Amino acid sequence: MSVLVSPSLLSANFLHLGRDIEKINESRADWFHLDIMDGVFVPNLSYGLPVVSAIKQAARKPLDVHLMIVQPERYIDAFRQAGADILTVHLEACMHLHRTLQSIRNAGMKAGVALNPHTPVHLLEDVIREADLVLVMSVNPGFGGQSFIEQSVEKVLKLKELICKSGSNALVEVDGGVNVETGRRLAEAGTDVLVAGSFVFNAPDPRAIIEELKKL
Ligand code: DX5
Ligand code: ZN
Repeated sequence: MSVLVSPSLLSANFLHLGRDIEKINESRADWFHLDIMDGVFVPNLSYGLPVVSAIKQAARKPLDVHLMIVQPERYIDAFRQAGADILTVHLEACMHLHRTLQSIRNAGMKAGVALNPHTPVHLLEDVIREADLVLVMSVNPGFGGQSFIEQSVEKVLKLKELICKSGSNALVEVDGGVNVETGRRLAEAGTDVLVAGSFVFNAPDPRAIIEELKKL
């Protein structure tokens, strides 16, 4: 099975968001990756619920929503209503991660858990069965266009081992600094989903870039 591709709209042209969403609709991308930042968990703000609802109206693929916010459990129902299909929270932002992942599933979404670059994989041991997806941050979250942290490839290998041992079906998604070169190594290590923002939207032909990533 080829890798899934989830282009991050953080690098889209917000003045022409409808046009950029249409490019992704027409491509072989699998999901839309939406980055929600609160200026507290990460040192940046992005966009919020009304924008997610608007994207939902135009998008013809599932919305993969990455919450970089504190106390994400307060917004589970709101993001469901706005149209999220996959909702990912950060392990570092959750006091009761097990309960939060269960609440996301109970609300009818796939539950994801994200790890910052400093967070070791083994912290997921007791919660991996509650997750449908693990998002490995391969940059420090908050901004698009940063360089890939090399250690992330090894982290994917460790994570695959943990998932395999525990009998979980969780997908491994990697986010940050993904291009054809880093993407190839990540795919070889067993990554299921590649997020790419600037690599896709800064290119003259995003569709062709997505095609290249799909071939990895
Ligand atoms: C960073 C976000 C990413 C970002 C990736 O905090 O989570 O999804 O958009 O951007 P690139 O692909 O440009 O590193
Ligand atoms: Zn993201």
